[in-house]
Amino acid sequence: MTTGITEATVVFDEHAEAYDKWFKLNGNVLLSELLLLKKALGNPGRTLSVGCGSGLFESMLKTRFGIEINEGVEPSDGMAAIAEKRGIKVLRVGADSASKAVIGFDTVLFNGSSSYIENPGAAFAEAHKALRGGGRLVVLDVTAEGGYGTLYDLAAQFGTWDHPKLKIRAPKNPYPTEFLSCVCWKSVPEKTALIENAGFRVKEYWQTLTTHPLYSNDAPQEPAPGYTKGDYVAVIAVKEPLPPQHGQGLPGVEQSG
Ligand SMILES: C[S@@+](CC[C@H](N)C(=O)[O-])C[C@H]1O[C@@H](n2cnc3c(N)ncnc32)[C@H](O)[C@@H]1O
Repeated sequence: MTTGITEATVVFDEHAEAYDKWFKLNGNVLLSELLLLKKALGNPGRTLSVGCGSGLFESMLKTRFGIEINEGVEPSDGMAAIAEKRGIKVLRVGADSASKAVIGFDTVLFNGSSSYIENPGAAFAEAHKALRGGGRLVVLDVTAEGGYGTLYDLAAQFGTWDHPKLKIRAPKNPYPTEFLSCVCWKSVPEKTALIENAGFRVKEYWQTLTTHPLYSNDAPQEPAPGYTKGDYVAVIAVKEPLPPQHGQGLPGVEQSG
């Protein structure tokens, strides 16, 4: 394991294969999230994927839509090793220690990773440094206030999906409980505040997984604008100049605009 070790990175290190396997069992959920990601990225230019995991989405973006994301940050060795096999150049550090090595990006992406990062505000501040002036921050994640966020927190409380109250609500192949005990889902308003406090202005929201979780793998969904119905939401923000009190111009920290 490299720098940035947390409970979440240990879990993803130990269960790296189980993560991709779960998506294979939930192909329509994967496709819905991929379509949302494509919509949120548009033409992203040079993109850094923070918490890129196994690089599953990046590899599908490339083969299906010709969208290339070749650079990532990922502190879990188990996940990073799979991403590297998929052709991604991975910096094996936590999101809060990457900025001196990664600058000049058009887009910084957090797909499903921000809720696993202990201090997402600090990670968004690092993303601000990694972006060129006017660059975009794209954050996709499960929403705390949605059906999935609520069900996942319930399953984490029970410590198992094997409970009568969950069995009637859970999808056929639910997300492994290992990944539910080391996460802190945020609501869209909470994420928006963290992103804007880090020096961004939120421009758009897009959503998917708008059915109850039990039915979310029945068919793929096209993304829809907004965030009040979807369990997986994209927040798209633009980098703004920081006021002086944010520490612009600190010695040894490169500024990108
Ligand atoms: C749910 S997975 C998402 C992986 C990938 N982006 C995807 O969409 O398939 C969350 C990822 O965040 C990573 N992660 C956890 N803590 C992190 C941190 N401090 N900085 C960067 N990534 C982190 C985990 O190791 C894991 O690979």
